[in-house]
Amino acid sequence: MRITMIGSGYVGLVSGACFSDFGHDVICVDKDAGKIAALEGGQMPIFEPGLDKLVETNVAAGRLSFTTDLKAAVAGADAVFIAVGTPSRRGDGHADLTYVFDATREIGAAIDGPVVVVTKSTVPVGTGDKVEEILKEVAGDFEIAVVSNPEFLREGAAIGDFKRPDRIVIGTEDARAQQVMRDIYRPLYLNESPILFTGRRTSELIKYAANAFLATKITFINEIADLCEAVGANVQDVSRGIGLDNRIGSKFLHAGPGYGGSCFPKDTLALLKTAEDYETPVRIVEAVVQVNDTRKRAMGRKVIQALGGEGKGKTVAVLGLTFKPNTDDMRDAPSLAIVQSLLDAGASVRAHDPEGMDIAKTMMPQVTYCGDAYEAARGADAVVIVTEWDIYRALDLKRLAATMAAAVMVDLRNVYPPAEVARAGFAYSSIGR
Ligand code: UDX
Repeated sequence: MRITMIGSGYVGLVSGACFSDFGHDVICVDKDAGKIAALEGGQMPIFEPGLDKLVETNVAAGRLSFTTDLKAAVAGADAVFIAVGTPSRRGDGHADLTYVFDATREIGAAIDGPVVVVTKSTVPVGTGDKVEEILKEVAGDFEIAVVSNPEFLREGAAIGDFKRPDRIVIGTEDARAQQVMRDIYRPLYLNESPILFTGRRTSELIKYAANAFLATKITFINEIADLCEAVGANVQDVSRGIGLDNRIGSKFLHAGPGYGGSCFPKDTLALLKTAEDYETPVRIVEAVVQVNDTRKRAMGRKVIQALGGEGKGKTVAVLGLTFKPNTDDMRDAPSLAIVQSLLDAGASVRAHDPEGMDIAKTMMPQVTYCGDAYEAARGADAVVIVTEWDIYRALDLKRLAATMAAAVMVDLRNVYPPAEVARAGFAYSSIGR
């Protein structure tokens, strides 16, 4: 199969590299010449475990290449995947489809034979219909099918998720396109990953419904965590106690500072907008969005409370800035709201993150960035674990306490057993315990 991937961002690059690793011939396209040049030189534009090796191997094998020349890359392709960004549109929260439609027009002008065009970008219901309309208008009289094939990749675990997916969703009723998609994903038959064929609109909605459901699960346990604190229960035991019920499932029941990242915040908002447009409100998701927003700011107040109710003149060490571990992604990270509320309260903030500091520096210039957790904690009145990176899971707590002005720890990810932290001399608070 000859596959062209339009957009070499997170999704495009991971998907392109994995398809080439299946043995397909893949060209990844991007408008950003700097990014393409870097990729050709073996430099990854994002931090994703295992991606550099995967790219290196497949480039060396001649199955994976990069270009800015969309026209040449589309010519002769069996399938063209659209994997460009669909950010929240400023002002109204709708998904911004400018990049998708621009790419579609360019693809249309470059098509030179029968081809399957696949939207991998997360797009609102009905986008496939519009993509098809544009292609009909722009492309010649070729046999073109438009398919929806959403991705369910978690940052930091994306390669594993791509190669061993829980399911593959393919939205098309066109028999030829179904066959092309089957051929593309054939290597996954070995893993017995189920392939679900649906209508195109259904497939588009599955992606949003999946993300909204997961965001709901997290938000549910976060509110239960608050209740646990109020009544003296333990949220980790509640999660286990409900998660062992197969109907509920144990995943996505870790209470924390609220979800962030490039998908949940924007996809839940976009789903609300679609629901509004069709006058079928999804009130549960409305509540989830609102509760999650409020929660991030409330975490800042929790820290101030641990400081004795006053932020002024205090120093707080923040450990972990990215929205979750194993990524350098700072998009909608809870740390942004937490740090802001600490600064607003008059505290100074020192921080460390293994991968996110370069980006964080541009977003939060008022923070002092440090070489490691111990340096961040030096002279601080409290240390806050915001992201559960492995290196914060086995800190030398006595050493940490000794460098601080006051041994106070707020653990927003429940990394430590309370008794262990208390033994090291910390006043300790966590989530729902
Ligand atoms: C998510 C989806 O999991 C993925 O299928 C989709 O394609 C893109 O969005 P991602 O954003 O990479 O992936 O991260 P994920 O691991 O899902 O975590 C999202 C957020 O939820 C993070 O802020 C994380 O800390 C938080 N989270 C997750 C919790 O607070 N508790 C949990 O139990 C799980």
